[in-house]
Amino acid sequence: MEMNIALLPGDGIGPEVIDQAVKVVKAVGQKFNHKITFTEAIVGATAIDQVGNPYPDATHDICVQSDAVLFGAIGDPKYDNDPKAKVRPEQGLLEMRKKLGLFANVRPTFTFPSLVHKSPLKRDRIEGTDLVFLRELTGGVYFGEPRGRNEQGTKAFDTNVYSVEEIERLARMGFEFAQKRRKLLTCVDKANVMATSRLWRETVQRLAPEYPDVKVEYEFVDAVAMRLIQWPKAYDVLITENLFGDILTDEASVISGSMGLMPSASLGLTTKLFEPIHGSYPQAAGKDIANPLATVLSAAMMFEYAFGLMDEANSISDVVNLSLEQGVVTEDIAEGGKAYKTSEVGDWLVKQILG
Ligand code: IPM
Ligand code: MN
Repeated sequence: MEMNIALLPGDGIGPEVIDQAVKVVKAVGQKFNHKITFTEAIVGATAIDQVGNPYPDATHDICVQSDAVLFGAIGDPKYDNDPKAKVRPEQGLLEMRKKLGLFANVRPTFTFPSLVHKSPLKRDRIEGTDLVFLRELTGGVYFGEPRGRNEQGTKAFDTNVYSVEEIERLARMGFEFAQKRRKLLTCVDKANVMATSRLWRETVQRLAPEYPDVKVEYEFVDAVAMRLIQWPKAYDVLITENLFGDILTDEASVISGSMGLMPSASLGLTTKLFEPIHGSYPQAAGKDIANPLATVLSAAMMFEYAFGLMDEANSISDVVNLSLEQGVVTEDIAEGGKAYKTSEVGDWLVKQILG
C-alpha cells in the first residue's frame, strides 16, 4: 500500500518521540512492503515562533492531503505563565481539530502485565482493565460562543453548546465500538444539572433501540470519576462530551502505571490524527529521556484505524510489550534497572520488528 503521512512533531518532547515512531513505521513499511512517504509540518509554539501562527495554512494543507497525521505534542511554559499572551499554542491544536473535523477522540486505557505493579492502584482492581473513551472533540465548552469577559472585566463566561447532530455522530461511533468489543456502552454526563447533558442522554436513549446487542448505562460524570479508579473493569466503551472527556482520560491514563504509554486516535470527517495523550513535557525536551512508547503505540493505532492493517498494528504492539517485559524502557519506568534513552528504545523496537 502507498501511504502519505503528515508529521507534526510540535513542541517539547514531541520531536524526539515522533522520531522514534517514524523509525518504527519505516521498519513496519519495510517488513510488510508498504511505500510510506512522510511530510513534516510545523505546529504549536514552534509554529508561533517561526510564522506567528500555531496552525498555519501550509500545515493544514499538508494534513488534508495526507492519509494520516502523526502528531507529537503542543505547549510551551512561556505561554502557560503568560495568561495575556495573544496567540497560544493550544489554539493551534483546537483549530486543527476543528478544521480537520476530528470529532471523536479515541483514548484507550489498558494495562500491561509487566507494569501492573507500577500503577498507583491495587493490582486486583486494575489487572485486565480494557476500556476506551470516545471523547467528543470539536464541540462543547471548548468552542461554544459567547465566551469572554464583561466590559469591566469582572465576570468571565464560557458557553457549553451541543447539537443533536454532534451528539449523534459521536454516540453512533460509540455503539459501533461497543458492538466490536464487550457490548457495553456508558454515556457519561451531568444530566441532573446540565441542559446539554440532558440532550446527550435523550439522544443516546433514542439511538439505543437501533443497537439491541449493546447494553447502555447512563452515569453521572462525578460518579464515573470515582468508579473509574475503584473498579475500572466495570467499563468497556465510554462516550462523553469534550471537557468531561479531557478530565476523565487523564485520570484513566494513570491506571496503566505511566502516562507515557497511552496512545490516542482522533477520527472524523477528513484525515485521521494519531497522538500520544501525554503533553509536551518541556522539562525533558531535548534530553533523549522521554518515553516514546505512547507515540509508537499511536502509530500502531494509525495502521489499524487509518489503513485497516491489523498485522502491521499488532507487530508494533507486540514489540512494545516485549520491550516492557525485557526492561528496554526509559527512566520513567526503569525503576532502578537500566534506563534506556528515548532513541535507544526506538532503535531496539526497530531491530525486533526487522529481526
Ligand atoms: C488534550 C489536551 C488539550 C485539551 C489541551 C492542550 C488544549 O489537554 O489533548 O487532552 O484540553 O484538549
Ligand atoms: Mn487533556
